[in-house]
Amino acid sequence: MDCRAGSRHPLFDSVRAVRAFAALTGEIAYGVIDPDGSMEEESMPRDRGNELPRYDAPSRPLWAYPRLRPRRNRQAGWTRALVAEHRLGPEDFIWPLFVTDGENVAAPVPSMPGVCRWSVELLVERVREARDAGIPAVALFPYVDPALKTPDGEHALDPDNIICRAIRAVKEGVPEIGVVCDVALDPFTTHGQDGIVRGGRVLNDETIHVLCEQARVQVEAGCDVVAPSDMMDGRIGAVRDTLDAAGHEDASILAYSTKYASAFYGPFRDAVGSADALGAADKKTYQMDPANTEEALREIAADLSEGADMVMVKPGLPYLDVIHRVKERFGAPTVAYNVSGEYSMLKAAGERGWLDYDLALLESLMAFKRAGADAILTYAAMEACQLLAGE
Ligand code: PBG
Repeated sequence: MDCRAGSRHPLFDSVRAVRAFAALTGEIAYGVIDPDGSMEEESMPRDRGNELPRYDAPSRPLWAYPRLRPRRNRQAGWTRALVAEHRLGPEDFIWPLFVTDGENVAAPVPSMPGVCRWSVELLVERVREARDAGIPAVALFPYVDPALKTPDGEHALDPDNIICRAIRAVKEGVPEIGVVCDVALDPFTTHGQDGIVRGGRVLNDETIHVLCEQARVQVEAGCDVVAPSDMMDGRIGAVRDTLDAAGHEDASILAYSTKYASAFYGPFRDAVGSADALGAADKKTYQMDPANTEEALREIAADLSEGADMVMVKPGLPYLDVIHRVKERFGAPTVAYNVSGEYSMLKAAGERGWLDYDLALLESLMAFKRAGADAILTYAAMEACQLLAGE
């Protein structure tokens, strides 16, 4: 196309419009198309507001059509592949899976289409598929029989509880995959809170004591990475000391450091059966206020100094700014949790034909990489692997 031959974009209809546009966008240098269609290069100082720029001597523009055409790098799949700044692959994912009692159970979670609670032997099959797809780790979550729940959640410390049995079976059947487990009491408590409750308060230090034991019991069942998701203050250091004292200095800690009090956990609470227990209560006295970012950075700093090997930001998509700042500030392994509500929103819209689920999924997962996440917990991990493999 000859750009001098009058095929101008309407925006470029007058020099005046172009200058005003450049002034608004604060460009340092730009090209101007004169009303006669000829091209002139200009430069202008920054921050001149809406004032018309003065003419400077022509300079080498940074971004001047028609010599520079950003579309050249986008014109074919191969060019796009060459210049892509971020890549998504199976090794980016941690796949969260729900486990339940019984045999041959695949109980669909109604608010999470495509997600089931699996009995242990079927869980091991899913984990084997994940390993074969190249996924490095799974995160296991228990659905606990309501009859086993108590106000203080003691069943969390039973080495034969459903989560410990699942860990043992997975590590026996698929030893090369990493196993991550939550450390928190909510699947085990009758009130659905993550800690010990007295007089309507979730107690910090008493809860830590139990969490340390829960972490130790899970590591002794074979868990590779314990992930305290409870948001009690000081629990990372306490869990580290407990594990070290028990000779488990190689067990890793993934700290749910910036976990917000979010509405996006709803479907997960259905899946682990804590929604009914929690009722109308919330977790705002320990999970973070969505209004805060500086506080998120302080939480990360504290957890890293207490011994966290990896830190997490959760939820994911509504908090990409936090992921970005955490990665920039600390450079530590940063894990994003693309939580249940984010998963279900895309599924619901896809099912209604309101958007293309597959494309929207890969685009959202790439957003995590762009923000700076090193790994992504996502219920769609297997689907994403299949899509990325072109299946
Ligand atoms: C429990 C826990 C929650 C999630 C992970 N661990 C829910 C909560 O804090 O209520 C949410 C995960 C998701 O929504 O996918 N401590």
